[in-house]
Amino acid sequence: MNVRVFASEPEAAAACAALVAAAIREKPSLVLGLPTGRTPLNVYRELVALHQRGQVDFSRVTTFNLDEFLGLAPDDPSSYRAYMERHFFQHINLAPERIHFFDGSAERAERECVRYDLKLLEAGGLDLLLLGIGPNGHVAFIEPGDSLQAGSHRARLSRESRLAVASLFGDDVWKVPLAALTLGMAGMLQARRVILLAFGVSKAAAVTAMLRGPITPMCPASFLQLHGNVEVWLDAESGRGVDGSR
Ligand code: GLP
Repeated sequence: MNVRVFASEPEAAAACAALVAAAIREKPSLVLGLPTGRTPLNVYRELVALHQRGQVDFSRVTTFNLDEFLGLAPDDPSSYRAYMERHFFQHINLAPERIHFFDGSAERAERECVRYDLKLLEAGGLDLLLLGIGPNGHVAFIEPGDSLQAGSHRARLSRESRLAVASLFGDDVWKVPLAALTLGMAGMLQARRVILLAFGVSKAAAVTAMLRGPITPMCPASFLQLHGNVEVWLDAESGRGVDGSR
């Protein structure tokens, strides 16, 4: 994997937004995989600014968000869908019908995952996938465990992951759903290009395990070692265990 260590998180975020904008200019019908969490907030802010300056047009872009909390309707303020509306979608000109999301309130989780995977297949897979990483090595909500699932699936959330997202639920971890729907490892590895962003010291151990550790379902991000076109963008703190690219 190709590693870049940036001087600061805002610098990496601006470079990432510029890269996304350039990819859209090159292919206006780009299929983009999008994460949530704190990590991509500045990327979304920069992309909104580029859009407002007329430097990027999202009208033909298709997006797939990678995960959603099970049991939350799209309009629930704690849902990832609401997060995306707040921070990104409502500020740009994406066509609503080209926004794809798991519906956390779907009655049958398995059927909802099949629906999502079919939409992804119809779209031709992801051209560009932006990823964050959890401190336990999770990507999207593919949690560490004894095995991984290829397709989209319902995932039981670890206590660590629930703590990490408690801020979306008024800092009350008991309000965080116990499960989520997530893109599977196959959809991730089939993306044509992946940029994984990780900032801050809390990500350093996961980054080292992802890059240097064995490929193991105990660190789902380690499977990205099998992908031929992954860039890992870090700041000095998340990259403290990394000595350059390999
Ligand atoms: C969250 C999301 C992931 C995200 C990760 C890191 O729970 N499910 O998609 O990449 O955990 O979050 P953060 O960027 O807030 O550290």
